[in-house]
Amino acid sequence: MILAADQQVLVQQQLTLAVDIGGSGVKVMVLDDQGNPTTERDRVPTPMPATPEAVVAAILELTKDKPFERVSVGFPGVVRVGVIETAANLHPSWIGFDLAATLTRYLGKPVRVANDADIQGLGAVSGIGVEMVVTLGTGFGSALFVNGKLVPNLEMGHHPFRKGETYEQQLGRAALDVVGKKRWNERLLKAIAILNHLFNYDSLYIGGGNTKKIDVVLPSNVQIIPNITGLLGGITLWRD
Ligand code: BGC
Repeated sequence: MILAADQQVLVQQQLTLAVDIGGSGVKVMVLDDQGNPTTERDRVPTPMPATPEAVVAAILELTKDKPFERVSVGFPGVVRVGVIETAANLHPSWIGFDLAATLTRYLGKPVRVANDADIQGLGAVSGIGVEMVVTLGTGFGSALFVNGKLVPNLEMGHHPFRKGETYEQQLGRAALDVVGKKRWNERLLKAIAILNHLFNYDSLYIGGGNTKKIDVVLPSNVQIIPNITGLLGGITLWRD
């Protein structure tokens, strides 16, 4: 069917480049207005040492030849208006680094940056009640939502958990490598029980690469979310 010019509906897509900076990989994917992927997920290993310059260079390399109008970035640390305040699993030179301004300068597009677990949560929550997210990867990420409203930069990972150690020290990738899957799973159940007592959440979502190591039965209000949620959540940073 051929439409007359005045009948044509111009569908202008705003493509969003979603970036997820992790302790072991930097991932990117392009999303349409609805948050559906329009490209494959691309990944490169996180450069070592993971300085701002090296990670920004990796992002620029990954974004070459990709079409997008705006950028969402998940960063593994505390982020305030685009500026990095902590980076436990990357490099100390991230502290005070304005990631949003730097990427805007290089890419020529608007950039929003948030904590990686917060973005993962934005892609997962239903918006009803108290919902919590933890991510199990290099670090231990956490996010809290009340009726869909985010409490940013929760950082449960660095709070004391047990035996004088934090959640991240007991459940991060290094701990999994040291104690093995069985003990790590036992620890995970203990952490879930404490977080449930503390937050009395309606739902807990668990994401991150190490969810594939979970082999215990989880309580009925806990569910595993796919790793790709960390990129899909990027679209929500643009829904004001
Ligand atoms: C960081 C968090 C991050 C988590 C997962 C922790 O070490 O402090 O901000 O969400 O790792 O990447």
